[in-house]
Amino acid sequence: MIKALSLLLAAAAPCSAFTVNKPSFSVMNKSPLSRSALDALLSAELEKPLGIILEEVEENQAKGVKVEELTEDGSANASEFKDQLVGLKVATVQGTDVTNMAFDDVMDCIINAPSPVSIEFEVPDEPMFEAGATVQIKVIQEGNADKVIDGKVGENLRQTLLNNDVELYRGLKKKLGNCGGGGQCTFCAVDLGPSEGWQERSDYENKKLAKAPNARLACLNNIQGPATIRVQ
Ligand code: FES
Repeated sequence: MIKALSLLLAAAAPCSAFTVNKPSFSVMNKSPLSRSALDALLSAELEKPLGIILEEVEENQAKGVKVEELTEDGSANASEFKDQLVGLKVATVQGTDVTNMAFDDVMDCIINAPSPVSIEFEVPDEPMFEAGATVQIKVIQEGNADKVIDGKVGENLRQTLLNNDVELYRGLKKKLGNCGGGGQCTFCAVDLGPSEGWQERSDYENKKLAKAPNARLACLNNIQGPATIRVQ
């Protein structure tokens, strides 16, 4: 929160001489920027002061910034998209990808940018399947016949597999040593095959499952759509 306020003050102070013109916005298809699951970027040309309070996406990490709120006197709040901006992550400033920058570095980009500032925001994908919709999950496991189970979008994958008698923890080590769904042991890892509506795995999974690019931690994933999964 301290950082969020400091950005507002630092960004607004050197730009107070600029008039607030009507900002222009457009929404375009995803650019070659390859990041988290998203299908569009909201592009804006905003006069300074922007009147955007930003905060870190993850505390003390270089994971970019997102819009915390808009102030009444800024150009962002004068735009027709003012109701869409809160919560969106900043993608680029003057064409520079800021999604993996530290807070202070993003702030520098904005402060040093001319007015109007070219700024893009990530617009997350709409989920393909509504929460609660029933979808089919095909489970493949060596030694067992393939089975198709019903899952509900939004429900935990690990719990759904266990409820349907899938042997998620095969062998004594996994049976006795699993973390019970805490995301620590990786024993619940399954390979995600053909699927619809599933977003990319998280940065946390990328780290924990670096050697298995198709794997997901069942305990940390909710069902997002139909899928084929392979259980070890
Ligand atoms: S049960 Fe341990 S990581 Fe999922």
